[in-house]
Amino acid sequence: MRTGSRPTDLIGQTDLLRINSLSQLTGCDIFLKCEFQNPGGSIKDRAALQMVQDAVSSGALERGMTIVEGTAGNTGIGLALVAKSLGFNMLAVMPNDQAPEKERMIALHGAELRTVNPVPFRDENHFYHTARKMAEQRSDFWWANQFENTSNARAHELQTGPEIWEQTKGAIDILVSVAGTGGTIAGNSRFLKQQKSDLQVWLTDPDGSGLYSYLRNGEFVAAAGGSMTEGIGIMRLVENFKQAKVDAAVNLPDQDLLALSRYVRDRDGIVLGSSSALNVAGALCAAAQSGPGKTIVTFACDLGERSSSKLYNPEYLRNRGLSMALEPITELFARYKDAGDSIWWNG
Ligand SMILES: Cc1ncc(COP(=O)(O)O)c(C=O)c1O
Repeated sequence: MRTGSRPTDLIGQTDLLRINSLSQLTGCDIFLKCEFQNPGGSIKDRAALQMVQDAVSSGALERGMTIVEGTAGNTGIGLALVAKSLGFNMLAVMPNDQAPEKERMIALHGAELRTVNPVPFRDENHFYHTARKMAEQRSDFWWANQFENTSNARAHELQTGPEIWEQTKGAIDILVSVAGTGGTIAGNSRFLKQQKSDLQVWLTDPDGSGLYSYLRNGEFVAAAGGSMTEGIGIMRLVENFKQAKVDAAVNLPDQDLLALSRYVRDRDGIVLGSSSALNVAGALCAAAQSGPGKTIVTFACDLGERSSSKLYNPEYLRNRGLSMALEPITELFARYKDAGDSIWWNG
């Protein structure tokens, strides 16, 4: 239990929760780091706070200035919360195809929100370039730049990784993570591998992302189709992801997230957001490949409620061509045991 004087005092120190159903199924201990417990409801609160603290320390960000960021939503919520808590204004630029739940939260936190059409990164109207250009126009604007600003990964190297190490008493064997900026997988893998060099780090990548292909072939080729997941998957190499120490990677389809999210909800009472469901699918795959006896940690990156209009919306799922006839978990697990060829191993 903590007592804080500002919401930022409550960022981090999240609980670790064992997923009993999947642990029993696999013979591994599968844990979720409950990042939805952060005051902004996601793991991105950590990156937001570290980026702001480091910018204040370096003198780049001064009281009364406006923080500008291009975001899929969660970083915008985290930065809005940090901004208002520490005496800054916040302007978020977001593509207009993200869950309305996140737009609402940014506005609720008193930030200014600019939405733009979703376009490829090479288009100057991409949310990333829009935020950068807005920040360049005014000396009282500061661009957080979560993709290239490695204070993002530092948050996890300094805080999240040490928390996991302490919570598992050093027993962690495998860390599984999705990646958007790569801050989470980079910071945690750097810290945890320093403690235990044979720790395995797995990346789980959604359809539409090129990270898996980059690791496998050195080229960013999008895995076929698209994904309903938000805030993850990317088609370029950014500074935060560059710092990640990854041993294995797997690309998993959205259809698997439906089966897993319902199974974990109905057996364990845990409502996963879509990127968290992908993390849990990755953890199941890692357990299938490693065999029993391992301690596996992954992240519940945000509140499951932020995926209510997509992952938990039957009409949306039908329109995406996803089937509500869910694969039984034992079949999914058996399929992951046979997935050896589709897994990329480092070296
Ligand atoms: C829901 C969600 N999950 C995962 C991530 C990925 O985290 P990272 O940027 O540290 O790779 C994000 C990033 O915005 C996110 O919003």
